[in-house]
Amino acid sequence: MAKITIKTPEDIEGLRVAGRLASELLDYITPFVKPGVTTGELDELLHDYTVNVQQCIPACLGYQPPGMTPYPATSCISINHVVCHGIPSKTKKLKQGDIVNIDVTSIKNGYHGDTSRMFVVGKPTIAGHRLVELAFETMWAGIDAIRPGGHFNDIGVACEEFVRKNGVSVVHDYGGHGIGKKFHEEPFVYHYDTHKPGPELLPGMVFTVEPMVNAGRYGVTMLGDGWTVVTKDRSLSAQWEHMVVVTETGYDVLTVSAGTREPPAFVKGWKKPENL
Ligand code: MF3
Ligand code: CO
Ligand code: CO
Repeated sequence: MAKITIKTPEDIEGLRVAGRLASELLDYITPFVKPGVTTGELDELLHDYTVNVQQCIPACLGYQPPGMTPYPATSCISINHVVCHGIPSKTKKLKQGDIVNIDVTSIKNGYHGDTSRMFVVGKPTIAGHRLVELAFETMWAGIDAIRPGGHFNDIGVACEEFVRKNGVSVVHDYGGHGIGKKFHEEPFVYHYDTHKPGPELLPGMVFTVEPMVNAGRYGVTMLGDGWTVVTKDRSLSAQWEHMVVVTETGYDVLTVSAGTREPPAFVKGWKKPENL
């Protein structure tokens, strides 16, 4: 197993800049997420803003993990029962009540910024709104479990406990990841209890927390396009993603911009900076 890198203060500042730009890209797209827009149109807007305004490189475009076909777009846009890696399409229109994840990763000065948020299109449904909120709280339950000297499984235990008490589930087959000058680094971050402590959390580790929360069961399946992941039972799925760094005293969030939501009231370890 390759080892988990400890980032230098300079690396962390580079990742914070990339993280802020990725978060600002989600701020930028927010007013366009409306009934009738196609996911292809949203992706084109995301691409042009990334490249022309932010002067970043879209990390997803052409990204090809071993054994996969190159990813064909700037963003992943995952609607309703799509869990992750939804491919934007010129013919897929958003409609009232859809729940939509937009996941972006930008490279600035060699560093990756990876974040995603949920959007509810037009008037929310009760079930859609509830799952989006539960997924947000699941991510934060995981993040707020981070402390130096703890272990990666603390994150999984916190996420699993939160979904269990709310009668929903968290996906096992996809998870968070270390991140830096590479998009996906060690370790794989489990969002469920693996019953093993996993690596120790040490100051300077940078990784994502991005639990996918399903209304039904946790099983997923991949569609024939080789990318799109859906719930096996076709129940709704929701996901939020932040990039975090372990500090000497707890953790800090690196994917922050003016449009970042405040954490839920139960979170003790982090507040959104006031100067945004
Ligand atoms: N941004 C996703 C993540 O959070 C990865 C997308 S890979 C892609 O890890 F190729 F589909 F873009
Ligand atoms: Co990620
Ligand atoms: Co992502």
